[in-house]
Amino acid sequence: MAHNILESKRGIIFGALDENSIAWKVAEKAHEEGARFVLTNSPIALRKKDIFELAKKTNSQVIGTDITEISELEDLFDESMQMLGGKIDFILHSVGMSPNVRKNIPYVELDYDYLQKTLDVSAISLHKVLSVAKKLDAINEWGSVVTLSYIAAQKTFSSYSDMAHAKAMLESIVRQFGYHYGVSNKVRINSISQSPTRTTAGTGVSGFNAFFNYADAMSPLGNADSNSCADLCITMFSDYTRMITMQNIYNDGGFSAMGISNKLIEQYINGGVGEN
Ligand SMILES: NC(=O)c1ccc[n+]([C@@H]2O[C@H](COP(=O)([O-])OP(=O)(O)OC[C@H]3O[C@@H](n4cnc5c(N)ncnc54)[C@H](O)[C@@H]3O)[C@@H](O)[C@H]2O)c1
Repeated sequence: MAHNILESKRGIIFGALDENSIAWKVAEKAHEEGARFVLTNSPIALRKKDIFELAKKTNSQVIGTDITEISELEDLFDESMQMLGGKIDFILHSVGMSPNVRKNIPYVELDYDYLQKTLDVSAISLHKVLSVAKKLDAINEWGSVVTLSYIAAQKTFSSYSDMAHAKAMLESIVRQFGYHYGVSNKVRINSISQSPTRTTAGTGVSGFNAFFNYADAMSPLGNADSNSCADLCITMFSDYTRMITMQNIYNDGGFSAMGISNKLIEQYINGGVGEN
């Protein structure tokens, strides 16, 4: 059901690791909608090689970038503008990683060096991307930047650990930078708060299946999958949403507005919440 709504738009897509990645689906749909873009991921992620299949499929180029390194981001923007023949219209920031979560370190005993890494990769990196783009004047007026968040920014999800701090900071950067970039260049910046989704980053959180099943049973529409997230990203990149900026948009089947659902009540009565 492509409508060419990204025709003649140029983009940079961060974070496609494998076919489960949300960024992967976004790249496929952006291609279907007529966009041209550069795919980027960390040099370590490129070793997995899957991204080159996606590049072939979407007729795009791959540039390795550690998103925390300013000089690499400068090269990425310079090379992308050269390859695509002009300034950028949309950016997907689909990047997150917590060494504390990966190593199962209990939240109350966080390793603070790891915490710095979590914040740098998962939140401050958005600031770095935007700051480099602004300095190089790399984004066209009415350009759109989307990052991916999770409701643990607002509410406590007991095993989400320091990623909750990263997401809270990420959403704050969306609002702060959204103001400055909006005033100076009419660039808009939004986050999408996504349902639990089976990806490498998602399933790395301990108790992921319980998260997933609980959210699914709570949400009137059920969990939003990565394809629906990609549809929303495409919409946000398009000119149909040009007056939306500095927002956190829930793509969660209604989860964020719920207290409890009949489905969960029944599961509590019968036992076994989150086990099936
Ligand atoms: N999966 C979920 O349940 C879920 C829910 C809400 C939000 N999100 C967010 O969606 C985003 C994308 O995650 P995903 O679920 O598609 O998982 P994913 O594991 O496929 O994507 C995470 C990406 O971050 C990249 N990355 C990590 N460190 C990097 C670095 N230093 N430089 C450049 N790239 C780096 C990884 O290589 C990977 O491609 C993340 O921000 C995640 O927190 C995911």
